[in-house]
Amino acid sequence: MSSVVESGTVRMADRVKELKSRGIDVISFSIGEPDFPTPQHIVDEGISALRAGFTKYTPSAGIPELREAIAEKLRSENGIDAKPSEIIVTPTKHAIFMAVLALVDRGSEVIMPDPAWVSYEPMVRISEGVPVPVRADEETSFRLTPELVAEKINDRTRLIILNSPCNPTGAVMKKEDVAGICELAVDYDLLVISDEIYEKIIYDAANHSPASFEGMRDRVITVNGFSKTYSMTGWRLGYLHADAGLLGGIQKIQTHSITCATSFAQKAGVAALKGPKMPVEKMVAEFRKRRDFVVRRIREIEGLSVVEPKGAFYAFPRYAFEMDSEKMGTYLLDEAHVGVTPGSSFGKFGENHFRISYATDMQSLEKGLDAVEKALGKLG
Ligand SMILES: Cc1ncc(COP(=O)(O)O)c(C=O)c1O
Repeated sequence: MSSVVESGTVRMADRVKELKSRGIDVISFSIGEPDFPTPQHIVDEGISALRAGFTKYTPSAGIPELREAIAEKLRSENGIDAKPSEIIVTPTKHAIFMAVLALVDRGSEVIMPDPAWVSYEPMVRISEGVPVPVRADEETSFRLTPELVAEKINDRTRLIILNSPCNPTGAVMKKEDVAGICELAVDYDLLVISDEIYEKIIYDAANHSPASFEGMRDRVITVNGFSKTYSMTGWRLGYLHADAGLLGGIQKIQTHSITCATSFAQKAGVAALKGPKMPVEKMVAEFRKRRDFVVRRIREIEGLSVVEPKGAFYAFPRYAFEMDSEKMGTYLLDEAHVGVTPGSSFGKFGENHFRISYATDMQSLEKGLDAVEKALGKLG
């Protein structure tokens, strides 16, 4: 465990809380969860399940009606030929963790984008695998390309982790790039974990699930969840889909770790998948407005540049000041009272950037970015 670092996002959120508890008015751009309530029909279903006494263990892989609803969603929306028996219901982070633990042996190499979500690398290290970061910076608009991946493949490579839309950059993979990476996976007999948790929070772009590409069905673990799409972070509900050949090992870890996902949350999950789409559409429309504002405002600030994010609710500006991103995070917190996440938390190629989460109201975005501009202005 000594090679594993603490989550940079959680550390920053804790510092923001500490300053707030001292009465300092801090604006937080470090939160990775939608600032909307869970839609009412989903909450109601959870409450009904509790009232009806649905409070005991469920089948380990999840309740049949939720596994069926998920398989149906994957078939109709993602083009994945999914069966309910191939679904495991579990918190999304745990889904990724179980898949990595089950598939990565000591010394196996795992290709992943850099910058990328804070937990992929530690998960690989905990599994005694070797993380192989692939630089996915402004040169490719933060997108992972087949050319970049191909350079890193050798006979120890076991797995490629993809995340589109991407946290922290908001990059969305192009169809031809997904196709090219899938071809590499087939040619070199590699597995893929596709983390599609931001699938629905996407602007002027489309999600392409690798498991729907030819030859990929039995080599992809598709991961998704309810946290971001339905603003359900605290319900701890997500899922994975994998072919039976890959599922067995993962299922064993589920039974020996959390047994099953929370019972009443699973009932609420059925309501989320089968209920009205309106709340999600409204949320995404609001995120789009904020994205447009944040990009425009960042581009007005001297010393900052940003690639327009095509999905998720993050912007990842690069700054032109001589200061590492940990120091920049501390400087903005102390000087502007704005909490951002240092870019290096997401990998070494995230250095000289910081992540802004725009899952916060417009007024705070305006006020916070004004304060950032003022503080950066003092650096000359
Ligand atoms: C890219 C990515 N994958 C997975 C997760 C984990 O999601 P959950 O909190 O629903 O387990 C997150 C959460 O921030 C994320 O950003």
